[in-house]
Amino acid sequence: MFKKFSALCYLRRSYSGDVGKLKAQKYVLTKYFQGEPKTNDFKIVEEGLPELKDGEILTEAHYLSVDPYMRAYMIGYKLPTDMIGGQIAKIIASRNEKYPVGKFVSGSFGWRTHTICDPRKLIGKAGFLPFMLLPDLNPHPASVALGILGMTGNTAYFGLKEICQPKSGETIAITGAAGAVGSHVGQIGKIMGCRVVGFAGSDEKCKYLEKELGFDRAFNYKTVDIKAALKEGAPNRVDCYFDNVGGEISSRIINYMNKYGRVAVCGSISSYNEASLPKVTILQPAIVYNELKIEGFLVDRWINRWEEGINANLNWLQNGKLKYQEKVYHGFDNMVNALIGLLRGENTGKAIVKVK
Ligand SMILES: NC(=O)c1ccc[n+]([C@@H]2O[C@H](COP(=O)([O-])OP(=O)(O)OC[C@H]3O[C@@H](n4cnc5c(N)ncnc54)[C@H](OP(=O)(O)O)[C@@H]3O)[C@@H](O)[C@H]2O)c1
Repeated sequence: MFKKFSALCYLRRSYSGDVGKLKAQKYVLTKYFQGEPKTNDFKIVEEGLPELKDGEILTEAHYLSVDPYMRAYMIGYKLPTDMIGGQIAKIIASRNEKYPVGKFVSGSFGWRTHTICDPRKLIGKAGFLPFMLLPDLNPHPASVALGILGMTGNTAYFGLKEICQPKSGETIAITGAAGAVGSHVGQIGKIMGCRVVGFAGSDEKCKYLEKELGFDRAFNYKTVDIKAALKEGAPNRVDCYFDNVGGEISSRIINYMNKYGRVAVCGSISSYNEASLPKVTILQPAIVYNELKIEGFLVDRWINRWEEGINANLNWLQNGKLKYQEKVYHGFDNMVNALIGLLRGENTGKAIVKVK
């Protein structure tokens, strides 16, 4: 009885009742991408918001995620379509006592400023970023729940541990090594006692990987000879390859692996902006001769173990074993520039847009 009464008081306190006056802004994709995304592939649309129903919350976006899948996946949607993506948002009105005003949530709300949802329908469901009520992440910004403590963090954690299954003393090669997933994979590799060799797109990124994140070696794939770099960086050849980029560099690495090597195919960003797929060196002889195991994955395979990954990464973060960097773009109007920037390699670590 008392419980019921306090819940009622809570709803009165938290529900502003003004939702109907608020307008959300959202990006709608109106043209399929050709080459790089462009501002005029999108339009920004205003949308009225209905009053909250029992159990629903209204959220206001604070950080929007910028991810390669946004370039890769839109071809599968019928146009015009709302732009997809994860975000960290603050609850600004609530008719759900478990989700009070002022708390932050993560969710696959897309490129939009305000969202009404019913958490009961979202919890435990896969998505670009699974819905969660965020704990207090102090001293870190809530945006870490997009990166190191979010989808990319779990991609690194499960992709490396479950697909590559590295053993202490083995050598791991990583492409896209200075990005959100790659920089995280390398650090877990070091925690697991492996030799870690990364490939990234600038000398500055390589310096960061070696000096700040403890990679054994990092090479600028735009300027080095890949075969020579592998010989130098991985004298015992490669046991595990975490593939973020695909293309010819992946063929080179896979051709330089040890017997029973494991490849986690996470993505192929080198092809996302390309109209036709590149021709690359044949892999089958190396796969057969070295009896390699090559496995693609999508991180939501581990939706039922989501918290395990977050907690492991949080634990390493709190113990100083895991570092992160964010490339922060500012303003809702900057979403397209941020996506273009990510695909051009502007980011070290996780790319995000701070909208509030
Ligand atoms: N399977 C899954 O569930 C899953 C989940 C998350 C992400 N992913 C994939 O994982 C990969 C990394 O994602 P992320 O979120 O961590 O992004 P990210 O690595 O932070 O950002 C993209 C990076 O890709 C690199 N890049 C761009 N064009 C390239 C090219 N032609 N060749 C080589 N590198 C290029 C750029 O770095 P450089 O300066 O080094 O070129 C850029 O900074 C992507 O392929 C993504 O699709 C898969």
